[in-house]
Amino acid sequence: MNQFKPVVASVPMKSVEPIAYKLVPMDRELIPQIAQLERLSFSLPWTEEMLLEELESMTGSVIVAVDKDRNVLGYASITVVLDEGYINNIAVQRKYRRMGLGSDLLGVFIRFAEAQKLSFLTLEVRDTNLAARSLYSKFGFREVGRRKNYYDQPREDAILMTRFFKEEQV
Ligand SMILES: CC(C)(COP(=O)(O)OP(=O)(O)OC[C@H]1O[C@@H](n2cnc3c(N)ncnc32)[C@H](O)[C@@H]1OP(=O)(O)O)[C@@H](O)C(=O)NCCC(=O)NCCS
Repeated sequence: MNQFKPVVASVPMKSVEPIAYKLVPMDRELIPQIAQLERLSFSLPWTEEMLLEELESMTGSVIVAVDKDRNVLGYASITVVLDEGYINNIAVQRKYRRMGLGSDLLGVFIRFAEAQKLSFLTLEVRDTNLAARSLYSKFGFREVGRRKNYYDQPREDAILMTRFFKEEQV
């Protein structure tokens, strides 16, 4: 399902030149860097093998923000089943956070969902992950449930957040 078109964008760096990056579909070569970003971002990270499975999956897609040297600045992953979209992961390198990259990545999935007429996009997020919860709220995701003690390391509830696209569900 790697059908996202690369787009080019730039974000302002604090007091230095804007950095240019583009959004591209994940390829084999980018997997080690994405796995590294996973390890830096999550206590139970996806491995290179899991990412390789995503690459070969007919229902999943991973988009990656890369700079001109193909350094990975961020990435996001989605699984689509019929007209339902499940956002698996989204992460941005710490030094590039709060510059709009997460929004750009999520925006691709929102546009994809609209174009493909999905009913909804949904995801789970740690209760205490206020940065991510705020990002999702900004994109119209609403809290629709809670999974008690869903996460380990540390044990924590998951908040279920969903962005509906069909009017009758809003
Ligand atoms: C969540 C994450 C992907 C956001 O990426 P980002 O590139 O920093 O996001 P953006 O710059 O596009 O921010 C968009 C909005 O998200 C919210 N946000 C992002 N970081 C925030 C923070 N530290 N505190 C509060 N709100 C935050 C804000 O609403 C922000 O809008 P604003 O800048 O106009 O206030 C990033 O913080 C990250 O990689 N976190 C670690 C991995 C993770 O937790 N992923 C989510 C798993 S469910």
